[in-house]
Amino acid sequence: MAQENLAETAVNKIEKIFGEHPGYRRAHSRGIGYEAEFTANGEGKNWTVAPYLREGTTKAWVRFSHSAPDPFWTDNLSPVKGMAVQFKLPDGQIMNSVGVTSSIFFARTPEVFTEMLDIAKSFKKGRPRLRDLITLFIKYPESRAAVRIIRKMQGPASFATGLYHSIHAFYLVNGTGKHVPVKFQWQPEAGVESLNPAEAASVQKGDFEKEIEKRVAAGETAFRLIAVIGEEGDPVDDPTKDWAEDREKVEIGRLKLIQRSAEPEDLLFDPTELAEGIECTDDPILHFRNPAYAISYKRRNMEKR
Ligand code: HEM
Repeated sequence: MAQENLAETAVNKIEKIFGEHPGYRRAHSRGIGYEAEFTANGEGKNWTVAPYLREGTTKAWVRFSHSAPDPFWTDNLSPVKGMAVQFKLPDGQIMNSVGVTSSIFFARTPEVFTEMLDIAKSFKKGRPRLRDLITLFIKYPESRAAVRIIRKMQGPASFATGLYHSIHAFYLVNGTGKHVPVKFQWQPEAGVESLNPAEAASVQKGDFEKEIEKRVAAGETAFRLIAVIGEEGDPVDDPTKDWAEDREKVEIGRLKLIQRSAEPEDLLFDPTELAEGIECTDDPILHFRNPAYAISYKRRNMEKR
């Protein structure tokens, strides 16, 4: 099946399983947007020709989100949170950097992802049942690691205390044309902090949005952009595999939240939309996100909330 058709099938399945919610994104439906500013610290000069990662300050939009496709689920039913960043480059181009609070994904290919959605039908409280997990682990052994992480995961205590991973690898390209595989992380300056199960149980719908609004109003809220440098043999096309913990981590710059903005609700954070100096790897899930996000974007734009 062509990837566009498969993406349509996947988005249709998401709607069927999680309900149709006009005007909302088909995944990560509920979120909150910020205007932000990214300042490069100069380290990027060694790795990429992308000007905004080398020096200076660039305007950006940020959208924090709960991963559930249903916007009416309470915040704690989405232990995985998202942080989508769009850099507004001076020449009118944009560049997206999208992360979640899990370091790996549960499906190796778009075909497996689309098939696995059927299992999501039986999710109880946002997590799979044990019986379905066993079936899944036998059929897709590569999915074990991510599903285990998500099953046990406690969400961050705040959108501002999540560690957000790009999951996919990308290439940074320097002036000599050298391609270095990297994975990105957005590291919270407030420190990584998770909810304990008792706290998670008392979280109401919208608490995360209220909390970050108060936090930004009360003081500076920022994230550090980290490039995790891949080594020879590290898989660059498999989002179900993590790289070793001891990989070199290079801090590239700092993203500061400025003020609330409704604009990110209308934006499309396509992770394959990159600027000169950063390139996609051959990860099939990364490339599949391009048509899937476009379909969701088109549908939500034609609807009213
Ligand atoms: C088969 C793979 C995937 C599919 C089909 C998929 C599907 C979607 C869709 C349909 C949307 C809504 C897009 C829109 O309306 O703008 C979305 C949003 C999002 N996805 Fe994925 N996704 C996939 C993998 C991933 C992965 C690996 C990550 C990890 C970084 C991720 C993180 C996010 C985030 C953070 C958002 C919210 C972006 C925003 O705030 O606009 N997704 N996804």
